[in-house]
Amino acid sequence: MARKLTIICFLFLNIIFIFVFFSVEASGIGVNWGTMATHQLPPDKVVRMLKENGFTKLKLFEADERILEALIGSDIEVMIAIPNYMLKKMSEDMSYAVSWVEANVTRYKYWGGVNIKYIAVGNEPFLQTYNATYIPYTLPALRNIYEALHKADLETKVKATVPLNADVYNSPASSPVPSSGDFRAEVRDDVIEIIHFLYRINSPFTVNIYPFLSLYGNDYFPVEFAFFEGLAQPIRDGDLVYTNVFDANFDTLVFALDKAGYTDMEIIIGEVGWPTDGDKNANIHNAQRFNQGLIRRALSGTGTPARKGAIDFYLFSLLDEDAKSVAPGTFERHWGIFEFDGKPKYELDLSGSGNATGLVAIEGVPYLPNKWCILNPEGGELSHLLPNTVDYACSLSDCTALGYGSSCNHLTEEGNASYAFNMYYQMNDQKEWACDFLGLAVVTDHDPSDENCRFPVMISSAHPRFWCHSLSGIFRAVVLIAYVMICISFAFFS
Ligand SMILES: *[C@@H]1O[C@H](CO)[C@@H](O)[C@H](O)[C@H]1NC(C)=O
Ligand SMILES: *[C@@H]1O[C@H](CO)[C@@H](O)[C@H](O)[C@H]1NC(C)=O
Ligand SMILES: *[C@@H]1O[C@H](CO)[C@@H](O)[C@H](O)[C@H]1NC(C)=O
Ligand SMILES: *[C@@H]1O[C@H](CO)[C@@H](O)[C@H](O)[C@H]1NC(C)=O
Repeated sequence: MARKLTIICFLFLNIIFIFVFFSVEASGIGVNWGTMATHQLPPDKVVRMLKENGFTKLKLFEADERILEALIGSDIEVMIAIPNYMLKKMSEDMSYAVSWVEANVTRYKYWGGVNIKYIAVGNEPFLQTYNATYIPYTLPALRNIYEALHKADLETKVKATVPLNADVYNSPASSPVPSSGDFRAEVRDDVIEIIHFLYRINSPFTVNIYPFLSLYGNDYFPVEFAFFEGLAQPIRDGDLVYTNVFDANFDTLVFALDKAGYTDMEIIIGEVGWPTDGDKNANIHNAQRFNQGLIRRALSGTGTPARKGAIDFYLFSLLDEDAKSVAPGTFERHWGIFEFDGKPKYELDLSGSGNATGLVAIEGVPYLPNKWCILNPEGGELSHLLPNTVDYACSLSDCTALGYGSSCNHLTEEGNASYAFNMYYQMNDQKEWACDFLGLAVVTDHDPSDENCRFPVMISSAHPRFWCHSLSGIFRAVVLIAYVMICISFAFFS
């Protein structure tokens, strides 16, 4: 009997062994979870939703403590980031890098903790709008973080990388094909130095690719070339044939890397996706079409014309973020596959098999009461004040759904005012004072939404701290260790 138990125990240990050493290489779907929203969803509920939908990889823009706590014990592979504003200090002060790694990586990196796999050093630090501010600090910060990982004995388990925007490379106008790709002259030396270092430490090159922006920036861009169905006029590049801009962009990078001598450099797509509102091309139909096409293509292993194999990518993004800057465009607040409250916007098959399947919503989201703030139908004599109050409400909330080509652009002037008042009211947690506007506004319990234009009810952001989840992670680890100890003692004494 004891012998049988010993065998069972050893089988069990073998399974653990296989699990630990072979399941860490998660393939599958990654997603970016940005938190620039006025009202945050409870992180433990978001993590549960990620698991239920089968997301296996997650990218964060900071080492957000509440999110990392919620991820304890989840197995989801995580990339955490060091924001650009920390790069300077990180580049000058080694001890800062060491304490950052200690507080934000080592602390969670235990058996049953958080599966942190990558550290993103900066976020698109070479973006042209930053006017070269972060370029001098990026490589030194990367070096220091690598050193800090090395000191913590984590450098083989956790890889440092730098997510760069795709405009660090291009093809010359005289030869606009991927095989002419190279790094942009102004940043070429800096980018290649970073690549050299990444290659040496066996880390991937991370790039963000946005076919939506190709379309947004250019009215003559062939729309079908943004999607994956192969309906556009193909572009020939020697023997290579391109039917979509994602492949063409990716291969421009592949050729630029080839030219620099890094033929087998691993590439990760740090961000890719399509927004659903705020522009004429930003809608549910296009977003679903693009993301589904991308998932199918990336998981199929077909690769691109210049590089075969599965594509490692993180969708942008998980949730809508109503506090993002709209400087790049009003679509910025609408990248989510899910609404701000965790409702899926459209069906998406994350397995890549081609069958449309519904996504699972976040469950148990706490909402404010079903109340809206609208234009007071009896406020007529004050209507000359309306334009200013609407502008005021919009400037302190989010009216990006009202603009040209957006979901609420069909509203009347009165509808616009109601929308603006409601957004201000919801963002201010339905406080009584937030639905007044000199008597122009009034609270109603009748939902003013129509088929296309949603008047949201805000989520309630006052929620208790969720310590149960992290406890369960530690608890599971303890149970597991106890189990293994019992097995070992069985093996000894039988
Ligand atoms: C850990 O990361 C967070 C978020 O980026 C940051 O605010 C904090 O300062 C970091 N901790 C240390 C010790 O650097
Ligand atoms: C960008 O940087 C250059 C030189 O560092 C400076 O002359 C210029 O004014 C800056 N432009 C902006 C928009 O900050
Ligand atoms: C997808 O649907 C087809 C036809 O309905 C079915 O034969 C196939 O097994 C499904 N694939 C998956 C992975 O569910
Ligand atoms: C509603 O507001 C949007 C955005 O400001 C504007 O484009 C639109 O023309 C307005 N509609 C009316 C009827 O005034």
